[in-house]
Formats: sequence, C-alpha cells, structure tokens
Amino acid sequence: MQDTRTQVGIIGAGPSGLLLSQLLHLNGIDSVVLERRDRDYVLGRIRAGVLEQGLTDLLRRAGIGERMDRVGEIHAGFAIAGGDKEFRIDLESLTGGQTVMVYGQTEVTRDLYQARDAMQGTVVHEADGVTPHGIDGDAPYLTYEVGGEAFRLHCDFIAGCDGFHGVSRASIPVESLRTYEKVYPFGWLGVLSETPPIDEELIYAHSDRGFALCSLRSRMLSRYYVQCPLDIDLADWPDDRFWDELKARLPRAAAERLVTGPSIEKSIAPLRSFVTEPMQHGRLFLAGDAAHIVPPTGAKGLNLAASDIHYLSTALIDWYRDGSDAGLKTYSDRALARVWKAERFSWSMTKLLHTFPEDQPFDRRMQETELAYLSGSKAAQMALAENYVGLPY
Ligand code: APR
Ligand code: PHB
Repeated sequence: MQDTRTQVGIIGAGPSGLLLSQLLHLNGIDSVVLERRDRDYVLGRIRAGVLEQGLTDLLRRAGIGERMDRVGEIHAGFAIAGGDKEFRIDLESLTGGQTVMVYGQTEVTRDLYQARDAMQGTVVHEADGVTPHGIDGDAPYLTYEVGGEAFRLHCDFIAGCDGFHGVSRASIPVESLRTYEKVYPFGWLGVLSETPPIDEELIYAHSDRGFALCSLRSRMLSRYYVQCPLDIDLADWPDDRFWDELKARLPRAAAERLVTGPSIEKSIAPLRSFVTEPMQHGRLFLAGDAAHIVPPTGAKGLNLAASDIHYLSTALIDWYRDGSDAGLKTYSDRALARVWKAERFSWSMTKLLHTFPEDQPFDRRMQETELAYLSGSKAAQMALAENYVGLPY
C-alpha cells in the first residue's frame, strides 16, 4: 500500500470534480481527482449544452472561458410549440437582459481537462475500488487501486463528485440520509447529426405523439430528442424512423425546414428526479449528480452541479484561508435550497411538455390550457424565463 496526501480528495472527473479541483488550485489548495474510467470515456459522454450565466461566469473565473466565449452561442430566447402553434420565450426581455450560452457539456469537460493539465493537476484515471474511510473523524482517507497497485490517499476533506452511480453517497450510512425520487414512465431517444440545425434557437415541442426537442451544438451539429417508452430497442429505431417521428411532433412549418442526415450518436436516457438530503456527512461532501438528478427538460443538470461547486469551493477556500467552518456547515442547506428550486422547474417543464401514459382527457385539457396560458401571459413567461436563465447563486 502506497501512502500519499492531498488537501481535498475528489472522487469523479466529471464536470463537478474537475471544476472543483480547478477552483481550489487557483486558491492555492491542493487536490487529487480519482476517476474510475479513462479520459476518452469521460470525454465521449454526450450531454446537454445550455449554460446559465452563473455557470459561464464561474467558468471564466476558473480561467476556462476562452474557448466557450469564442465558439459558444448566446441564446436570447427559445420556442415552445404545441401542435401547430408556436411561441417564443424571449429570455432577454423577460429577465431584463439575461441570456443562456449554448456550449456542449463535453466541451466544458474538455476545457477543464486542458486547464488541469496546464496546471499539472493530478487526475488519476482507471482508479478501481475507490473507497472513502474515516469520514466521521478529522483524518479521512481514500483507498483505491490502479493497475493492481494499492494506494491510500490521506486528505482533510472528501468531495463526492462521482455521479448518480458513484460510491460516495453509498458510503454514507442509510439512516443519515433521506432520498426523494420520481421516475418518469418514459425516456428520451436522442440523435446527434452533422446537419444544420432546424432553427437558430431551441424548440421544445409538445404533441399528442409525445415531446420532442430540437437543440444544437453548432452551425453544423444538431441534437434532437423524442420522448419514447423506456423499453424500446435502439435497433428498432433506424435514422429514417427517428426523423419521421421527430417531424410528426413538430409544427408543420418547422418540420418542413428539418434537414436530416446520418446520426453520429443515438442513445436512450431515462428521466428521473432525485434528491439526497443532506449533501454532507462528516468530512464527505456530495456535489452534482452524486446528490441529485433532474430530468433533462430545461437542461439544469450541469448548471446545478456548478452551483454546488460554487458553494463547496468557497466554503473550502474560507476554511483553508481563515479557518472558518461556517461555509462548510451551511453547504448542504445552501446547495439544497437551490437544488429544490431547479428540481421544481425541471419537473414542471417535464409535466408541461410530455405525454403521460396515465393521463385522462381532463389532464390533457389541463396541459393544453397551461400551454395556452403560457403563450398569452407575460407573467407566466417571466416566471419560466427567470428559472430557465437560472436563479441566482
Ligand atoms: N470511483 C471513481 N469515479 C467514479 C466512481 C467511482 N466509484 N463512480 C463514478 N465515477 C465517475 C464517473 O465515471 C464520472 O466520470 O464520476 C464521474 C461523475 O461525473 P458525472 O456523472 O458527469 O457527474 P457530475 O460531474 O456531477 O456532472 C453533472 O453530468 O449527468 C450530467 O446532467 C448531469 O450535466 C450534469 C453533470
Ligand atoms: C441538449 O442540447 O442536449 C439539450 C438542450 C436543452 C435541454 C436538454 C438537452 O433542455
């Protein structure tokens, strides 16, 4: 067993773990990131790409905003469609000037890796059997293996940034945690294609056949989704079937503009809402998907991970700089207050736009009326826009 030491041991090299290590480094705090997979695997994951201003500001402060500001696209609004009707949510005017940035999570992760490399940050890949120990005391440590060799990493704090299926949450005694979960009875079938996007802005579409989303990564890279049953087989969804289904769910004018082409990625994602309380146990702090999951409607996953990391990094910086544990003590409450509001928003957008198998005719009328109300009410649009651009940290 080889013994090593760092100040903050971070489990998981997703956006949460990498951003935390970067922010700590800039404040003179040493960390080691332990990642179960290899770097290509981490960078191969395709996820949403709508960044709130809080996140873009944080990335700039972390010194990794340059490529995002160069190639990311500012979006001042998006469309909501219901059947053949479509209306625009003018984020900029409804929020007094706020917008979102369209820039893929994969690119954010790539930029974070580059920054960690440039600063000689330690990210250990293919770390097997990562296990937190001693989190109830003041000398926690992590054990793991790389290539059959065993390591023990001593640290002051452990950050559990290891996603929904990670080891961090699982290492907290069950009686100390409360979890809340809602599993939706459908998923999203997503396609990435090297085609020009259907529109300059995103289109969220409700139809009798189910929800559809037209998104994009760049001028020549489109991302589309259709709501699907959870038990479908990708083999039954050749590209032509996907494009036909997508068109059938869009307003006619939009469907006519759709440029189709071969998919370069196709996958199914389940939809889930999940929250763990508290987000801390002793010296172990949970952040990002390790602590909570939102359904992708509204693209809040990465943005919530970022606000957690903002609260956690400032708390750790205060502790190392002033010896103050005030931020660490309130981390969970501060993070959760924002988490629950994003959970509410993601859940309400999901309910507004999807078809639910159990819905009765009355429920469908309510949903249509919600959309009609939203299309004609500035007050309702303001509430939606305020949440879409992101509540303040
Ligand atoms: N040991 C080490 N690493 C682990 C372990 C483990 N036992 N379990 C999981 N990991 C790694 C995963 O391989 C992954 O790279 O932790 C990382 C977690 O990354 P993400 O799942 O991307 O979670 P997070 O960094 O919190 O990012 C949140 O990801 O899922 C999206 O919508 C979500 O956009 C949001 C973002
Ligand atoms: C995406 O581009 O993948 C995306 C965009 C907006 C969402 C969800 C996903 O609400």
